[in-house]
Amino acid sequence: MKYDIADPSLADEGARRIEWAGRRMPVLKSIAERFAKEEPLKGLMVAACLHVTAETANLMVTLREGGAKVALCASNPLSTQDDVAAALVADNIPVFAIRGEDDESYYRHIYTVLDMAPDITMDDGADLATILHTQRTDLSPIGSTEETTTGVIRLRAMAAEGTLRLPVVAVNDSATKHLFDNHYGTGQSAMDGIIRATNMLIAGSTVAVIGYGDCGQGVASRAAGLGARVVVVEVDPIRALTAAMDGHGVMTADDAARVADVFITVTGNKHVLRKQHFDVMKDGAIMANAGHFDVELDLEVLGEMARDRRAPRRNLEQYEMADGRRLLVVAEGRLVNLGAAEGHPADVMDMSFSNQALAAEWLAQRAGTLEPAIYTLSADIDREVARLKLASMGAGLEELTEEQKAYLSGWREGT
Ligand code: ADE
Repeated sequence: MKYDIADPSLADEGARRIEWAGRRMPVLKSIAERFAKEEPLKGLMVAACLHVTAETANLMVTLREGGAKVALCASNPLSTQDDVAAALVADNIPVFAIRGEDDESYYRHIYTVLDMAPDITMDDGADLATILHTQRTDLSPIGSTEETTTGVIRLRAMAAEGTLRLPVVAVNDSATKHLFDNHYGTGQSAMDGIIRATNMLIAGSTVAVIGYGDCGQGVASRAAGLGARVVVVEVDPIRALTAAMDGHGVMTADDAARVADVFITVTGNKHVLRKQHFDVMKDGAIMANAGHFDVELDLEVLGEMARDRRAPRRNLEQYEMADGRRLLVVAEGRLVNLGAAEGHPADVMDMSFSNQALAAEWLAQRAGTLEPAIYTLSADIDREVARLKLASMGAGLEELTEEQKAYLSGWREGT
C-alpha cells in the first residue's frame, strides 16, 4: 500500500485519539453499523480531501464499513494530525498528508489520490473538484461531496459559469451541518486555538469578529461568553443589524483596527485585514483567521512592514513594526481552530460526517443518473440526523397530538 505520512511510529497515540473521538460520534457509529450490513458503497473507491483529524478517521472507517476503498489527503497543509495519519495507515487506509507540508507536497498528495481514479470524491474546500475541472478532466467520478461554505461558493461559481461537470452534494447546506458545525464547532474551536497559542485571558479584552455568517456568529457568541467585548465588522446590513441586536458593537474595519486586542477573520474573502489596518493596530494585537483559506490576512504586506519576525510561542508569530509595535499572527493565518487546536469537537463533527457518509450513499444510489448540479440532502435525512443526535444526548422530542395536527392543517378554526 502506498502512503506518505510524517511518522508511522505515532500510530498508537493516533489510534487512542481516534477511539476517543469515536465515542463522541454516536450518530456516525449507527450509520457505520448499518453500512456494515448493507454495504451501500461496495466496490467503490472514495478519495477524500479533508482535514486529517481523529474525527475524519472515524468517517474513513465508516466508509470502509460501507464497502468502499478509501484514500485520504489533507485539505489544509497545517491541519494534519500526524498521529492520526499514522494510525490510519496502520489500519490499512492510505493517507497522503504531513502537518506543515509545503505547497508542492500538498498538491502532489492531492494528485496522488486522484490517480486512484475515485468513484466518489469528498472535499473540504473544493480542491479535488477544482482539479477535476482543470488538470484531470479525463476522470469522471459518480459525484462529489463538499463539506464547507467556501467550497460550496467555489462550486456555485462553476455552476453559474456553466462549467460544473459533476453532481455535487453540498453537505454544508444540510441544517444539521451548518447550523451546528459552523456555529458551535467554529465558535468553540477558534477560541480554543487562540487560547492555546497565546494563553491569554479573553475576559475584559476587545475581540473583533470580522464576518457575521454562521461561523462568525458562533465565534462572537463564544468570545462574549468568555467575557470579551465583541465588535463585529460586516458588509451585509442585515447581518450587521443582527450583530447589533445580538448585543455586539458594530463598526468598520478601520475603527475596529484601533480598538481591538484580538481580531478573528471569518469572511471567506481575501485581504480583510491589510496595511491600513496594520498601520493603526495596538501594540500586542493578535490576529487569527477562522475562514477556510489563508487569504484573509495580507501577510505578505505585514512581512514587508516588519523589521523583525520571531516566534514567541508555538503557533504564534510576532511581526515587529518599524515603530516598535508588535503584531501577532496565530497559525500563519491558516484556519486557527485546526492549526492551533484540534478542530471542531467530535460531538459536532458527528453530524457533519454523518451527512458526508449519507451523501456518499446518496450518490452511489444514483450513479449515472444525476445531472451536473449542486444537490442538497433531503429535509427527511436532515431531521433523521437531528433525531438520532437528540436520542444520543438523552433528549426527549415532543410530538404533536392529533388535535394539534388537525389545527395546523386547517384554517377554519381561528379562535
Ligand atoms: N473541520 C473542522 N473541524 C474538523 C475536525 N475536527 N475534523 C475534520 N474537519 C474539521
